[in-house]
Amino acid sequence: MEELGIITNAGVLCMSGKISWVGPMSDWSESLPTGFSEIDASGKVVVPGFVDSHTHTMFAGHRAQEFVLRSRGATYQEIGEAGGGILNTIRHVRTASKKELKRQTARYLAEMMKHGTTTVEMKSGYGLDMDSEVKMIEAIHEMEKEEMMSVVPTFMGAHAVPPEYAGRTSAYVDLLVNEIIPYVGKRKLAMFCDVFCERGYFGIDDAERILNRGKDAGMLPKIHAEELYPMGGAELAGRVGAVSADHLEHITESGMEALKTSGVVATVLPGVSFFLNHGYAPARRMIDNGVAVAIASDFNPGSCMSFSMPMMMTIACAQMRISPAEALTAATLNGAAALNMSSSVGSIETGKKADLLIADIPDYTFLAYHFGTNHVVTTIKNGTILE
Ligand code: NIG
Ligand code: FE
Repeated sequence: MEELGIITNAGVLCMSGKISWVGPMSDWSESLPTGFSEIDASGKVVVPGFVDSHTHTMFAGHRAQEFVLRSRGATYQEIGEAGGGILNTIRHVRTASKKELKRQTARYLAEMMKHGTTTVEMKSGYGLDMDSEVKMIEAIHEMEKEEMMSVVPTFMGAHAVPPEYAGRTSAYVDLLVNEIIPYVGKRKLAMFCDVFCERGYFGIDDAERILNRGKDAGMLPKIHAEELYPMGGAELAGRVGAVSADHLEHITESGMEALKTSGVVATVLPGVSFFLNHGYAPARRMIDNGVAVAIASDFNPGSCMSFSMPMMMTIACAQMRISPAEALTAATLNGAAALNMSSSVGSIETGKKADLLIADIPDYTFLAYHFGTNHVVTTIKNGTILE
């Protein structure tokens, strides 16, 4: 993760939306083919577009009032137990139309691109009944086709137990595995199936049932694991062959071993620990133990109201003791691996999508080091230049 393969005085040629050449300009002998536009990035830094592999970008309403409560000392768990939190957002999403959801989400996607994100995973999970979950995942799936951003849809009907099933978690899990997951799978609306494996949400047995049913329906497993309490979610990720296990603030030694031996990407979400003021995932130890670590924003209205990937890198470097080089790998190539997309995005290599950023900084370390400002001057998405 430390080895970035930096080339000074480099050039990149993009053709038909893909990278067709990259190298030192001294190796470039031909003249530029006609019809190409040329960008002079001298004095600047070019990096791969960020791959934000864990977000809840589609939501309605906001939770600013909960942020005020937390600023006075209330915890995320207390707010959730009092009927706020995820259930608060569900009330807004259930009454919003698909069009409204897409309109707000499109605005966020445009902002994300300006901050350098070119691929974003997006979860359902604020509907929690057949109609509202289908509304969300259809909307996300449609945006995959309609938006410039590469959108990767994840079905997360197991984000919380909806109020009408309070105290009847297994009945809700039955609805998920018998009806909603098969329907979403049959219509091929999602690439991944995710579950919030947590005390008060879904236990290990339920999570295993949900992820296995997701697999049968053609969706690859992902899991929100060990965020608030150690539950054994990392070990479960290994057992079901999850592509990634995410959060991991309370991962145990055996959980780390499971991720390593099963090749599960450990996705850490530094913005959540920062915003909720709870502990950080042991990213340093995971990297030292040979686990592949990705960084994502987890952008959502409750636990991280920020989609800035450079901000996540800053927090990771300052609080988790990972280097700016490791953080950049985690936010690009390892994020791509967490989406099973490392052969098409996440690095500047011939044949990959031409998703590039130009940042007006003297050195890549400034992406993390000089925080709270946007250094991206140009985002290039599939070879198209967005100023
Ligand atoms: O990843 N942990 C569960 N889900 C989200 C929070 C979503 C919310 O609070 O709305 C997360 O942190
Ligand atoms: Fe999440």
